[in-house]
Amino acid sequence: MTSITKARNLAGKVVLVRVDFNVPIKKKKVLDDSRLLASLPTIQYLMKKGAKVVLMTHIGRPDGKIVASLKVDPVVERLSELLKKKVKKLETENWRLTDAKKVSLLKEINNLRPGQVAMMENMRFAKDEAKDTGTLSQELATLGDLFVLDGFAVAHRSSASVSGIPKYIKGYSGLLLTKEIAGLTRVLHDTKGSFVAVLGGAKMETKIPVMKNLVEKADALLIGGGIVNTYLLAKGYKIGDSLVDKNFQLPSLTYCKRKNVIKPLDVVVGTKDGKKVRVVKIKKTPHEVCKKGEGIFDIGPETLRLYATYIKDAKTLVWNGAMGFFEQKPYDVATLTIARLVASRSKGQAYGVIGGGETLQAMDMVGMTDDIDLVSTGGGAMLEFLAGEILPGIYALNQ
Ligand code: 3PG
Repeated sequence: MTSITKARNLAGKVVLVRVDFNVPIKKKKVLDDSRLLASLPTIQYLMKKGAKVVLMTHIGRPDGKIVASLKVDPVVERLSELLKKKVKKLETENWRLTDAKKVSLLKEINNLRPGQVAMMENMRFAKDEAKDTGTLSQELATLGDLFVLDGFAVAHRSSASVSGIPKYIKGYSGLLLTKEIAGLTRVLHDTKGSFVAVLGGAKMETKIPVMKNLVEKADALLIGGGIVNTYLLAKGYKIGDSLVDKNFQLPSLTYCKRKNVIKPLDVVVGTKDGKKVRVVKIKKTPHEVCKKGEGIFDIGPETLRLYATYIKDAKTLVWNGAMGFFEQKPYDVATLTIARLVASRSKGQAYGVIGGGETLQAMDMVGMTDDIDLVSTGGGAMLEFLAGEILPGIYALNQ
């Protein structure tokens, strides 16, 4: 990938920047602006160079329909505050434009002042956004001189504004994308000393490919959440109403039997509302862990002590996914403890990387986000990268 810092003569050029400002919005206000903050360096860099900056993002999954609650206006407002400069909103909600309207949009963009920032409407209001081979990619490309992909969090989607535009105009990586790829590449290909990955969460279809790749690279893979439950079910343990994905029993057995996959010695069971809570040891031969109406909601204290010994020796640390149902007390203990352990070891003794919605939320709850070396903005994108997959957005920049 060529970094945008390598592009010369940006002054007066129209730079199309695909960011990922897919942020939670309530009552027309942005609830979490961390993805905006993460892309500020790229936007400010381009402003300083005198480029005309045209931002594109998606919000939610409107799938080609115009959804009022998913318009970008709250993002435009918050970004204007952060930049201390008004961001111009481009009215592009309907991409089935007549030629005359397209020409007037082009003029509006060209009329931006050097250093001015504008933003298009939610890209997913356009039907063609979902593919990078349609006419939208070409039409978007005609609006700019060059393209920058900065939204790492959307780099795993092949869509017009992500992997489509750089098929027609030169594409560069933004500062955020460059930083995230460098950090995650270091984890996969340049680890020194013990590499420990902590993997939890619920969505097995995204976790199993990561296990498949990391089991070959990590010294220890510490598991929690749905991976543990699915594995125990596959082994024949009775686990009541624990969250499982029955379709992934076989792969969970395949990977969990590897020596470097460290499994819980005990779990915390109870009812979903945090009652009837007790610790149950996992014995070698399958047995009843909990009854119907109950579930496994956390890893146990003995497991946590065991996992801590690995984390305390790590030189590279990656964490994605909660250890249990941490939204409900007392099932938050292991997830928040893992957050503290990972953060305490990072920035110094180990290179620490975290990513994924609930992982970031847990780190925020313990107030230690600033102690992490790389806080990835990507959930799905980070997992696909860690699974060793080629992300379409990054692939397109390399063509
Ligand atoms: C995310 O929040 O993970 C990204 O914005 C991608 O969103 P998507 O899963 O709807 O493509």
